[in-house]
Amino acid sequence: MSDLKFDFDTIVDRRNTNCGRWDTMDKKYGSNELIHLGVADMDFRAPQPIIDGFQQCVDHGIFGYTDLNEAFYDSFISWMKRKHAADVKKEEILFCPRINISSSVCVETFTQPGDSVIINTPAYGPLYNAIVKNNRDVLESRLVLENDRYRIDLDHLEEIITPDTKLFILCSPHNPVGRVWTKEELTEIGEFCVKHQLILFSDEIHGDITAPGTHFVSTLSLQEEIRQLLVVAASPTKTFNIPGVILSYLVIPNSELRKKIQDDIDRIGMHNPTIFAVTAAEKAYTECDDWYDAVTDYINENEAYTRSYFAEHMPEIHIYPREGTYLLWMDYSRLNCTEEELEKWFIEKAHVGVYMGTVFREEGRGCIRVNIASSRNLLKQAYEQMASVYSELKAK
Ligand SMILES: Cc1ncc(COP(=O)(O)O)c(C=O)c1O
Repeated sequence: MSDLKFDFDTIVDRRNTNCGRWDTMDKKYGSNELIHLGVADMDFRAPQPIIDGFQQCVDHGIFGYTDLNEAFYDSFISWMKRKHAADVKKEEILFCPRINISSSVCVETFTQPGDSVIINTPAYGPLYNAIVKNNRDVLESRLVLENDRYRIDLDHLEEIITPDTKLFILCSPHNPVGRVWTKEELTEIGEFCVKHQLILFSDEIHGDITAPGTHFVSTLSLQEEIRQLLVVAASPTKTFNIPGVILSYLVIPNSELRKKIQDDIDRIGMHNPTIFAVTAAEKAYTECDDWYDAVTDYINENEAYTRSYFAEHMPEIHIYPREGTYLLWMDYSRLNCTEEELEKWFIEKAHVGVYMGTVFREEGRGCIRVNIASSRNLLKQAYEQMASVYSELKAK
């Protein structure tokens, strides 16, 4: 049941708004007529206090250079304490417009050409690209599937790590597989980094969205010797559906590491937030708890709906457990079709857009990623379109 105070059921038309999700399908898929469950943003309107905050800026009518204020820091610090029991100090926080910039800056700052960087695959593309586009070597750590659950294989990493390995890029929670790493797992990863003197870049953008019964642990709450190697990237943009605002920050407890990153951020002139970013962060973290609780519930219900629909109508597609994110990672290997065949079926027959597994590197082959942060009515429409032509796929 949808929360009466918040309307997530109504389908909001996002076309013709320069939307990265709904207005780019022709270019990406050769058709504008798809229901697009790919790009990782929500189809929901942002919380009203954020919209009202933006309205005040617009009404003022002056869009000058903007600085961070005390409220910006206080609101994030209190959110991390309230929601994740993590202590963050103001001086540890650096503003950076996007995590996709900060991951690249981190690679540039802390490694040299010829060094290698660890990343788990399947991997979110821009995190992987932060390594290869900076001409560093990838030390690929494939996630291992055990009892339907992915885990990080540190024993294998012990075998392949070299003295040139300098950085570990962790996605926590993990996009696309939906794992929320436990405190024990994170501690093991942290201790591995301490042992090999690696910087640990932890992308925690999905940290606020967890499934019932799952508890997100920020690496910032780990022991001090691990904290001293940390560069944590966080943002309210996924949580409150404001990624177009362009807003993220880094938390770096170690002052020397922080200074190095700060110098690089200054070098490329990325210090000022947009005029909307400060308002967005402050409002999101102080006035939107009820929206956040409601949207989390709605996503959980969407997952339950998706599971029951697939079990009944498309049972060969296996949905992995979702511990966090609003993305479902699904395995279609029982369907006996190639990725190319499946993609063609999605676009030309089902008229639904999803991310094919190899978007997340070769390790993703055999899976798709489906974004469930949409009106349930829209999901229903998409699943019905799929189910109506499912027999064509099964007959292959
Ligand atoms: C794991 C992860 N990191 C970073 C981003 C993008 O963050 P930003 O918009 O701050 O660059 C995304 C967006 O999908 C993501 O899933």
